[in-house]
Amino acid sequence: MVANKINVMLTPKKELDVYIGKFLNNRYLIRDLIGKGGMGRVYLAEDAVKNGMAVAVKILSLNLVNQQMSQRFIREIFIGAQLGRKSKHIVRVLSYGITEEKIPFCVMEYLPGKNLKTFLKNQTLTLPQFLDFCHQICLGLDCAHQGISIKGEIYPVVHRDIKPENIFIVEDIKVGAIVKILDFGIAKFLTERAGMTLTDSFIGSLPYCSPEHIEGRKLLDMRSDIYSLGVLMFEMLTGKHPFYTTSQSFGTWYQAHRFQIPPAFEDVNPQIKITQELEQLVINCLAKDASDRPRNISQILTTLEKVKIQLNDKTSNSSDSLTSSSSVQLVPLTSISEKECLHQVWPKNKPIAIIGFPHLLHTTQGTIPTFWAMLPKKEISKFLDKTNGTDFISKMNIYPMILWTTVLYNANLPLTRWLSYFLDMKDTKGKKIVQRLAETGYYHLLFFAFEEPTNCAHVKTLTLTPSQRQQLAYWLELSQNSPEVINSNQAKVILKAEYEKIKPEILRNLALNKNHNKLNVKHYLLKIFSKLVSFFFRP
Ligand SMILES: Nc1ncnc2c1ncn2[C@@H]1O[C@H](COP(=O)(O)OP(=O)(O)OP(=O)(O)O)[C@@H](O)[C@H]1O
Ligand SMILES: [Mg+2]
Repeated sequence: MVANKINVMLTPKKELDVYIGKFLNNRYLIRDLIGKGGMGRVYLAEDAVKNGMAVAVKILSLNLVNQQMSQRFIREIFIGAQLGRKSKHIVRVLSYGITEEKIPFCVMEYLPGKNLKTFLKNQTLTLPQFLDFCHQICLGLDCAHQGISIKGEIYPVVHRDIKPENIFIVEDIKVGAIVKILDFGIAKFLTERAGMTLTDSFIGSLPYCSPEHIEGRKLLDMRSDIYSLGVLMFEMLTGKHPFYTTSQSFGTWYQAHRFQIPPAFEDVNPQIKITQELEQLVINCLAKDASDRPRNISQILTTLEKVKIQLNDKTSNSSDSLTSSSSVQLVPLTSISEKECLHQVWPKNKPIAIIGFPHLLHTTQGTIPTFWAMLPKKEISKFLDKTNGTDFISKMNIYPMILWTTVLYNANLPLTRWLSYFLDMKDTKGKKIVQRLAETGYYHLLFFAFEEPTNCAHVKTLTLTPSQRQQLAYWLELSQNSPEVINSNQAKVILKAEYEKIKPEILRNLALNKNHNKLNVKHYLLKIFSKLVSFFFRP
């Protein structure tokens, strides 16, 4: 339970809200709106009885019109509360109530963190992270599917609304991320209302809805949740939804879930490197016919465990264990921001020349680091879908500057282009770019053709390895107190010379089609070694 005091967490109110400042049940003081979904609003509140402890209150956007409906609401909340006590991967329900206006609400533990939707927008997932998140979601689902006991009978519980908004990631410094499923019971109550199938309020959930659910079948079993989990896993791995739709309407989603075949992962994202077994698991979860899906969550957990063991074996067999996670780095949800990049125009204050520069681009996905490069038109086409890599080198002990290089390589010609830029961390702009690179974990490379200089011609997304992100974060920290033994121009000359020295090795690795980011870490270790040597042999 998180018993944070509210005064430290309050953010300014974004809109007027009838509940803010009011007490519910004479006990829960509503302080701020956390978020709203199709079926209600979630608020941060203080529990007056528990010394102002922070709780989350979900107030549904419907009235309980009759006794029968109130009883059903209470029953579902009771089920949700039992599940929350059974599994730490299901949010804890503390209480519930009905306002004077007959509006139902439920009180939950307040979770600090973000839901999976927000998480995926801002962060890349590594394969170990994917496996960890899925494992935890499955543990929560398995507990519910195993059922709860009511008057001696066991009743399996189906969630019915598994989607990224209902999966919450709590970051815990000690144990890492704890994943919790939200809305157990509530989702069932809302989607099973008497005489109703899927209502307008359910529109946000349609992309994750099983074919049988969207058809309006009432008696859904756990395989409906398995289908939604399949959509979720596909999205976590590829960064894209498995189905293509032209609109968000009910009919369009019905067609997609019922008839569209999910594409092969490689066709969605050629950079993905996952085992056939994992891809097959996701595809099986997405089977149109429930009987073709995994029978239960235990089967999914077994496959996930196997994949984890294979991954660990691979890691321990790798000659350079520090960089092993680079081969499993997955791309984030970048398709939207990539599209936004294509609308960018070359800045008026930059010359029409073969140059490159970084830029923090404000997109609907947030602020994303980008690198803009103007190249001859013919050259751009030679680098599309070809090998590329990113290097960062620095000598923080003499000046806080990073040389950031993007290497484009076409092995058939062979042709190489080194796009380099010095990020001076004495400068706020340079520092911000480093910060965003470390936080985002990827950047967009925008190509502009020299012959047609106005509009962005192509976009590539380049992913950083976890060790690169760690390295950048470490340099950021060091830059606070880093000495200025030399000036920035001298630092540039030194970094350039350093980089020239490792270029041949980078090229050799690119020609062998190796991920040359491995070289980076090797080079970094060599640098530590040479620093130690120079320390001991100082005159
Ligand atoms: N216990 C909680 N602690 C902290 N944040 C929460 C908690 N429960 C929900 N939230 C956040 O509140 C937001 C709104 O949740 P809500 O369930 O109302 O919307 P939704 O999941 O997007 O849609 P739906 O109404 O279909 O469930 C979510 O984004 C979720 O991240
Ligand atoms: Mg929800």
